Amino acid sequence: MKRRIKIIASITVAITVVGIIIYMNKGTENKHSPEFVLSYADNQSSDYPTTMGGYRFAELVEERTDGRIKIKVYPNAKLGSEGDVIKQIRFGGVDFARVSASQLVEYIDELNVIMMPYLFRDSDHMWKVLDGKIGDELMTTVNNYDVEALSWYDAGARSFYTVDKPIKSIDDMKGLKIRVQESELMANMVEALGAKAVEITYSKVYDSLKRGNIDGAENNIPSYESERHYESARYYTLDEHIRIPELQLCSKATWNKFSEEDKIIIRQCAEESAKYERELWKDKESEYRSKMEEQEVEVIELSDVEKMRFRYAMTEVYERYCSEYMDTINNIIMIE
Ligand code: GCU
Repeated sequence: MKRRIKIIASITVAITVVGIIIYMNKGTENKHSPEFVLSYADNQSSDYPTTMGGYRFAELVEERTDGRIKIKVYPNAKLGSEGDVIKQIRFGGVDFARVSASQLVEYIDELNVIMMPYLFRDSDHMWKVLDGKIGDELMTTVNNYDVEALSWYDAGARSFYTVDKPIKSIDDMKGLKIRVQESELMANMVEALGAKAVEITYSKVYDSLKRGNIDGAENNIPSYESERHYESARYYTLDEHIRIPELQLCSKATWNKFSEEDKIIIRQCAEESAKYERELWKDKESEYRSKMEEQEVEVIELSDVEKMRFRYAMTEVYERYCSEYMDTINNIIMIE
């Protein structure tokens, strides 16, 4: 009897062990050790909409390639400033990145058209353009350089903010030292309004405002909040002078290593992450807008006359950067 119990017990143990082995193999049956471990750069913090979009992208790619392609997102400019990342991505030193179009226009003139002040009437207008033929053609143009454009990301509208006194009129811009991105076009835009442009890397703007090296800067509300620029610059003039879209990029050197199937997967994942980012953007923009009220930031709305004066001053920027692209500019304006 005892012997029989022993035999039954051993059989039960054996069945359980085999079961565990089968179960464990099942869990890993779709997992491969990664064929690619790739980097992804963003200069924003990890809870910022663009970076969260980057994390979503990495997750989707890993999931849909059964773990063959692994992407590690580096937030907070850990891989360098946007300008440096663009240099690296062109040579394959960084694999993926999310960057502002303002940094790419330094290399790709055709992107000037989407960098024109007051071009997009609002967010809907911008998305109609970018999601349509013009946006697709611009992506194809970018792809002729050393990078592959994967999707457009939202970055809202940029406005001016100042430390000592509010900007209520274009006359208040005169002589102000305003930080701009490292971009000749952005510097010219600010100078066309009468201010003095100072090009400073994004991560250094907080200190420059604190130390009084500059009188103000310009950016969207989420950046103003997330980088705590409001601590020094207490006046935010809602002039919304420009909407600069952002792009998710892949280095051409990396892109060329992927199979055609993987390219399709990566592109789809980028587009899905972009949809997610746009939703997040809307939420964060309104969340930060309410934070500004709590922080008692003075938000200034320009009068209609002043709005016209700001717009009019931008004529020279259009002439300088877009004289050969006026057809596209007109097509953009005509899009309802
Ligand atoms: C936005 C944008 C960044 C950019 C920054 C800047 O925050 O998302 O990519 O670096 O503007 O003003 O430099």
